[in-house]
Amino acid sequence: MFILGVETSCDETSIAVLRNTDVLSNITATSLKKHKKYGGIIPEIASRAHLKVIDKVLIIALQEAGINLSKIDLIATTYRPGLIGSLVVGVNFAKALSFALDKPLIGVDHLKAHLFSPFLNQKKAKIKFPFIGLVVSGGHTEIYRVDDFDKITILGSSLDDACGEVFDKVGRVYGLGYPAGPVIDKLFKEKYKNTFSFKCGRRGCNLSFSGIKTALVYKYQELKKENLLNKKTLIKILSSFQGTVVEAIIAALGEAVNKTGIKRVICGGGVVANSYLRYRLRQQSSFSVLLSPLEYALDNGAMVAGLGYYLYGKGKRSSFKLKAEAN
Ligand code: KG4
Ligand code: ZN
Repeated sequence: MFILGVETSCDETSIAVLRNTDVLSNITATSLKKHKKYGGIIPEIASRAHLKVIDKVLIIALQEAGINLSKIDLIATTYRPGLIGSLVVGVNFAKALSFALDKPLIGVDHLKAHLFSPFLNQKKAKIKFPFIGLVVSGGHTEIYRVDDFDKITILGSSLDDACGEVFDKVGRVYGLGYPAGPVIDKLFKEKYKNTFSFKCGRRGCNLSFSGIKTALVYKYQELKKENLLNKKTLIKILSSFQGTVVEAIIAALGEAVNKTGIKRVICGGGVVANSYLRYRLRQQSSFSVLLSPLEYALDNGAMVAGLGYYLYGKGKRSSFKLKAEAN
């Protein structure tokens, strides 16, 4: 079957066409440039941008997939969590398509969709439960026990800032622009990962990033005052920051594996694009990992369509009462 996936939970307007779990097209327009000068996403700007481009993104997604709208069998859309004004655009767009085409509608949880991204373009047989799910993004840091995509138990999360949010906030202080995650990742050098001794809070599978964020801010102020903040020092500080954050995530995952005895870990979300996190995850011997491919790590319509297809196969449907939910 052909599935259309609609994703508008943050600043990306993304629409994908899948044939079952094979991605035929995945088109994303982002309003990121408009937010850069504010150092973060401005919800009103994001929702207006979705409205402006969503129909054009749909047309390109269909063209690239080489099919007509009438061929679509299922409409999947992210309905939670995210920016409410942004979600409303995608949910209503999907409802309108479902109504006009007389095709079923399915609302998808964005975080679960991130966990589905490693299964795109794979044979369905590869989806084996249970697994430990890690979602690390700009809005979330969560570790789950996944017995099925509709049977998920939370094992731990960040008690304060989300992981990507911390990369972005640290980057703002150090003048790296927004989003800073990819910039810090590019500057990272493994040999400097322990040059500065920073700490991340962790208890079991729960994490805390506010302490390391504050330590980085103080370090910046201290070095700036003494005029010692040159490029090399910056690289050393940020490498130590990235190294510490990644090790904390690995340790929290280790706890989840020990606690549950489940030795398969599936990872999704924007921070999974981080090269050192990917490297360290792949190095683990106590559990196997399946990572979201880079092209589907950040927010995208393909993961939404993929999970929609999976849930539809299990008999799930949404009615036109489907509502956007911020949390
Ligand atoms: O999943 P995503 O696209 O959006 C949310 O659902 O939040 O994740 C965006 C987040 C941003 O905070 C961004 O800085 C972070 O992912 N990110 C990275 C990298 N690429 C994106 N963080 C660390 N290293 C990266 N390479
Ligand atoms: Zn996301």
